[in-house]
Amino acid sequence: MSEKVRWGILATGGIAERFTTDLLTLDGAEVVAVASRTEASAKAFADRFGIPRAYGDWAGLFADEDVDVVYVATPHHAHREAAGRALEAGKAVLCEKALTLNAREAEELVTSARDRGLFLMEAMWMYCNPLVRRLVELVRGGVIGEIRSVQADFGLVGPFTADHRLRDPAVGGGALLDLGVYPVSFAQLLLGEPDTVQAHALLSPEGVDLNTGMLLGWDTGASALLSCSLVADTPLTASVTGTLGRIELPRGFFFPERFTLYRDGRDPEEFVNEDDPHSLRHEAAEVMRCLRAGGTESPLVPLDGSLAVMRTLDAVRDRIGVRYPQEALVTPA
Ligand SMILES: NC(=O)c1ccc[n+]([C@@H]2O[C@H](COP(=O)([O-])OP(=O)(O)OC[C@H]3O[C@@H](n4cnc5c(N)ncnc54)[C@H](OP(=O)(O)O)[C@@H]3O)[C@@H](O)[C@H]2O)c1
Repeated sequence: MSEKVRWGILATGGIAERFTTDLLTLDGAEVVAVASRTEASAKAFADRFGIPRAYGDWAGLFADEDVDVVYVATPHHAHREAAGRALEAGKAVLCEKALTLNAREAEELVTSARDRGLFLMEAMWMYCNPLVRRLVELVRGGVIGEIRSVQADFGLVGPFTADHRLRDPAVGGGALLDLGVYPVSFAQLLLGEPDTVQAHALLSPEGVDLNTGMLLGWDTGASALLSCSLVADTPLTASVTGTLGRIELPRGFFFPERFTLYRDGRDPEEFVNEDDPHSLRHEAAEVMRCLRAGGTESPLVPLDGSLAVMRTLDAVRDRIGVRYPQEALVTPA
């Protein structure tokens, strides 16, 4: 792969706009094409960012020989098809979170990428944030001892009206796949896949989760108390507590500007992120680093980790009784 990495953007919604803005701040990142379900939207997006080619269907993007990597920014229900077709066309893929609707679809994608020797990564940008990486390094280095508990929440008040994608079961709506994926991914970054999953939720009349509490357990005795909501403005904080101390992340824990380490008998220690914590360019840079090195998987966002998160989200949905219409059967935990 040349120093330049040539991107194709698939879908033109809110996150595609934000990602493209941040991507274009990186040296060597070139956006050569964009695809939308409509030509007008592709063209408008291309005009906004000065992108040379705009396709009114996905096939044009997949056939474009100049595209090295496709960024999939559709709602969840379309991730498997979009990312799957991109892989079949020989493209590397960065796919928005949650990776797919469920673990079965995620396994299909991961198998496809691995069989073809192609790069695939879930766009779990939190894992690429420099301060989150520092936190992981500290915790793995033993500064707080053995982890006993994790807390994290992500709740917003829209209001999300009944026609919003977050309220639509057909596109994987609900708090869990959009917001709950962050607290679950945070806990699993530190503790791995849980041994037990309990959950309780308020469901909407359409059958998506509006307000969900989760209790994950590990055989070590560690637990994680997590929540997500579309109807409550929760603190958006996180903490991890061990036998020797704890780390607290303030509001916006998944793009932290700072965190505080508390250790028995010592003054609190502040760790600060000087490097644009809200930017998506850290995940884009990680994709480009991997592609230039010929890697097929990011060590920061490993596919086995994304699969494990999808299995937990499946288990939560199993407990709260949420099933998307296109699912024959939710994979049991
Ligand atoms: N990393 C983050 O911080 C972050 C933040 C927000 C969302 N996300 C993730 O990004 C994804 C998209 O979220 P968003 O907020 O950008 O949503 P959005 O604003 O609704 O945009 C999604 C785009 O996907 C396309 N689309 C809509 N319905 C579709 C359908 N039925 N089938 C195929 N394509 C469809 C549309 O683009 P076209 O009209 O061009 O086809 C639409 O503009 C979700 O998976 C979400 O979890 C990530």
